[in-house]
Amino acid sequence: MAGIALEFAHRRHLDAIQRYASDPAIGALSNVPSPYPADGAAQWLAWAEGEREAGTGVHFAVTLDGQCIGSCGLTHIDGKARRCQFGYWIGKPFWGKGYATDAGSQALRRGFHELPVDTVEACCLLRNSASLRVLEKLGFDIFAETSNGNNPKWPADEPIGHYRLTRAAWQAHQSQAAS
Ligand SMILES: CC(C)(COP(=O)(O)OP(=O)(O)OC[C@H]1O[C@@H](n2cnc3c(N)ncnc32)[C@H](O)[C@@H]1OP(=O)(O)O)[C@@H](O)C(=O)NCCC(=O)NCCS
Repeated sequence: MAGIALEFAHRRHLDAIQRYASDPAIGALSNVPSPYPADGAAQWLAWAEGEREAGTGVHFAVTLDGQCIGSCGLTHIDGKARRCQFGYWIGKPFWGKGYATDAGSQALRRGFHELPVDTVEACCLLRNSASLRVLEKLGFDIFAETSNGNNPKWPADEPIGHYRLTRAAWQAHQSQAAS
């Protein structure tokens, strides 16, 4: 299929996930481990399959013309609170072409149509300007700013933005984009 598409995480994606996620640029501003372990992609797939089986997460390979170029996922699915978390990364050779926004838009559509959620949340380092822009383009709004807390990857005072997209805001954003 041409263009950006989402495929459920599968072992056919492992080589590409391992190759692109190993670039320190991916982990530098995201929760992707850095340095990326030699079996990082295999660990990711085992986690993705476990979450899908348990109904707590849906993990996708982002593909461009059928080739895996990154990943995104809807995690921490909480059917009672009708909420989940959104995360994503795109291989560095493909940055700046709108692919994260396209993949994110497809993931959100699937989330709101197929999962028991009315709110999607995302956390982002406030210095991750490209990711903040992706969230903005997808219609997310910031609802809280905190310091890092206890993620050992960042300094304790690292500013983190907490973003939210409700179903109603997503629908309004869709209508606005279509008009
Ligand atoms: C964040 C990331 C997913 C963006 O992927 P991408 O495919 O390049 O994103 P898009 O092309 O859809 O959109 C990027 C936007 O950020 C903008 N941008 C890029 N670098 C920027 C910067 N330093 N300052 C401000 N805006 C920036 C681009 O111009 C574009 O906005 P525009 O369409 O208005 O011009 C990618 O950089 C990545 O994987 N980073 C490492 C992992 C990561 O940070 N994941 C998110 C964790 S919260």
